[in-house]
Amino acid sequence: MSLIARVLAAACLLGSVPAMAADAAAGKAAYAICAACHGAEGQGNLAMNAPRLAGQEGWYLKRQMDAFRTGLRGTAPGDIHGAQMRPMAISVSAPAALDNLIAYIATLPDAPNATTVTGDVAAGKAAYGVCAACHGADGKGNQALGGPRLVGQDDWYLVRQLKNYRQGLRGYDPKDTYGVQMKPMAATLASDQAVTDVVAYINSLR
Ligand code: HEC
Ligand code: HEC
Repeated sequence: MSLIARVLAAACLLGSVPAMAADAAAGKAAYAICAACHGAEGQGNLAMNAPRLAGQEGWYLKRQMDAFRTGLRGTAPGDIHGAQMRPMAISVSAPAALDNLIAYIATLPDAPNATTVTGDVAAGKAAYGVCAACHGADGKGNQALGGPRLVGQDDWYLVRQLKNYRQGLRGYDPKDTYGVQMKPMAATLASDQAVTDVVAYINSLR
């Protein structure tokens, strides 16, 4: 290590230099473990039950990683998929490592997978009226309200998450400020058919 590198490293440890910009190259190396389930390009993998990460907003990915790590998500009894993800989030405990990962995911191609869910698009459109406030009329999300992008996300994953909220597998902790907002919204979808219809409508926004 050169003298300058050693001084810089020491300064970082002391916290006396401003936080460095996220390092996508370092994030790429760390992403190798994620690729096993989420795919080399972050495209998701239905066989592994792992959703698409590419194309999702960085602020949302970060919040979900924090939620898994702190137990606001993935600890409800019966949430087998969340329980698979939780140790992965725990393994990325350093904030800088998470920032690097998110920076790398932002470089992956935003190419949605083929749709798998069909339903009554007109009924889904009517049900989506209430959702637009937080997720945008175009389904692209609303950071100010904390609502993530939905359009382009794997449709089977959207269906599962809506059912998870309805069943209390997500949004179960009162400290989960964002999840507790979403839970009553999922409850407005009274049946499994209503869930598929709204997801069919979200597919139509692509
Ligand atoms: C063993 C397989 C596996 C590995 C490895 C894995 N994940 Fe996951 N991940 C999942 C599953 C399954 C889900 C869906 C959980 C659910 O259905 O609630 C998930 C969900 C997520 C979510 C939530 C996405 C959303 O829109 O709600 C994020 C973010 C995420 N993973 C990031 C990562 C990152 C970053 C890594 C690498 C450090 C990683 N995952 C490694 C299986 C995995
Ligand atoms: C009051 C604002 C609000 C409304 C209205 C709302 N949502 Fe949400 N939704 C959120 C927030 C906030 C989150 C993220 C929760 C978190 O961070 O864990 C979310 C998350 C989701 C997710 C999980 C996405 C993922 O990738 O993990 C889905 C699916 C979803 N909403 C669909 C809907 C649908 C469909 C409707 C209408 C029936 C709706 N939402 C109405 C705020 C809202």
